[in-house]
Amino acid sequence: MRRTVVSIEVGTTKVCTVVAQVHNERSLNVLGVGMTQSKGIDRGVVVNIEEAASAIATSVEKAERASGYRIDTAYVGVAGQHIASLNSRGVVAVSNPDHEITPHDVARAVEAAQAVAIPTQREVVHIIPRAYIVDGTEGIRDPVGMSGFRLEVETHIVTGEVMAIQNLIKSVQRAGIEIDDLILQPLAAGEAVLSDEDKDRGVVLVDIGGSTTDVAVFVQGGIWHTSVIPIGGSHFTSDLVYVLHTPHNTAEYLKLKYGEAMQDVPALPPRDPDHPDDPDDPDSALPEANPDDLIDADTLVVGERQKIHRALLNEILQARAEQLVEMIYNELQRSGYDGMLQSGIVLTGGGAQLPRLDELMREMLGVPVRVGRPRGLGGLAEAIDTPPYATSVGLLLWGLRHGQADDPYYAYHQPYGNGYGSYGNEGRVPIYERLKNWMRTFLP
Ligand SMILES: Nc1ncnc2c1ncn2[C@@H]1O[C@H](COP(=O)(O)OP(=O)(O)OP(=O)(O)O)[C@@H](O)[C@H]1O
Ligand SMILES: [Mg+2]
Repeated sequence: MRRTVVSIEVGTTKVCTVVAQVHNERSLNVLGVGMTQSKGIDRGVVVNIEEAASAIATSVEKAERASGYRIDTAYVGVAGQHIASLNSRGVVAVSNPDHEITPHDVARAVEAAQAVAIPTQREVVHIIPRAYIVDGTEGIRDPVGMSGFRLEVETHIVTGEVMAIQNLIKSVQRAGIEIDDLILQPLAAGEAVLSDEDKDRGVVLVDIGGSTTDVAVFVQGGIWHTSVIPIGGSHFTSDLVYVLHTPHNTAEYLKLKYGEAMQDVPALPPRDPDHPDDPDDPDSALPEANPDDLIDADTLVVGERQKIHRALLNEILQARAEQLVEMIYNELQRSGYDGMLQSGIVLTGGGAQLPRLDELMREMLGVPVRVGRPRGLGGLAEAIDTPPYATSVGLLLWGLRHGQADDPYYAYHQPYGNGYGSYGNEGRVPIYERLKNWMRTFLP
């Protein structure tokens, strides 16, 4: 029987379950998608387990009906401001008497890297080896078989708050699903929209979701920095509610239908400069707005309508967009890699669909910016080949890469095996026998 991979993305706006079938262990065909409005999630984190579980169950049922496949396990994305990451180095002496580095040495070095103090209320989500150093020679991608005395590994460690992670796990389990693996959402999205070349040249993935924006910096082929900015698409909408005094639904509609992140519609045609400013002279009054630029909308007062000038709408959106770009810039500075990211910025998430946001960002930051569409799927892929589904697609690709029976990936979860899903499974092949393949999947 063909292997099937399922992803569940529990977002602030939507919960999305996708079922895909694996072909030749290389490609994925989408069999069905189940989408529902999110509940019980605030800024990427479960705040009400019952509500979240019911939304997850609804999206799973929809995906089951669409695909005709019964879902038992899934790859699940984790996100939120409780996520933190750090780069840590592990050092070991090569154990072999002839000083040839074995996978066992690599495993020991990675374990040494995770010996950094991790507070008790946090747990490790990922430990990703970025590069190796053998006797001081840096930038080695696969040290196995090389000779040396001293092996160092640079890792990127992602941790999250135990409670936030457990609440997500509980919600998924309460919906009747076991977790194959938990994956940091921007890492998953990166799988779907970034090429290996992007990651080698240096690239920033910016996932603009409902209420948060995830930033992930990739350099030298691996992840370097991850962080979460507490601004997302819903902030653009609430700004419109606040300034235009419209109901929330209207504001969302106006944003999706007319919104742009740059305002260069002339607010009104320019006045005749030769005309003296005389309030009593009708010719010196401001000319009328172009009717094409006026949008008819309701107000917070029932039955009362208003005309909204597109210039005003976009001015409001641009102000919020500029704030977001500034926060992204600050994040890049904190990562220590601004200016060295040749592939620039790739935008995903629903918020990335705001027209001209890429243009504004390019202008403000002076780097290449593109909107990333998830790639690499067949079957009913067109249902999910837009930016809001980058994470869902990435979770599937993660499952494709890491879900094989002899998957060495789980090795790194075992020290933290907490008994859910496939985590901490007993009786697997020893860590060092699986390590080499695992490294290959991460390091180009
Ligand atoms: N065309 C568009 N223009 C502007 N904003 C859009 C557009 N399409 C979607 N959005 C916004 O994208 C947001 C939802 O994005 P997405 O589906 O990626 O969120 P999510 O994954 O559920 O949330 P999160 O990642 O924060 O948990 C909403 O705020 C929505 O208004
Ligand atoms: Mg999202």
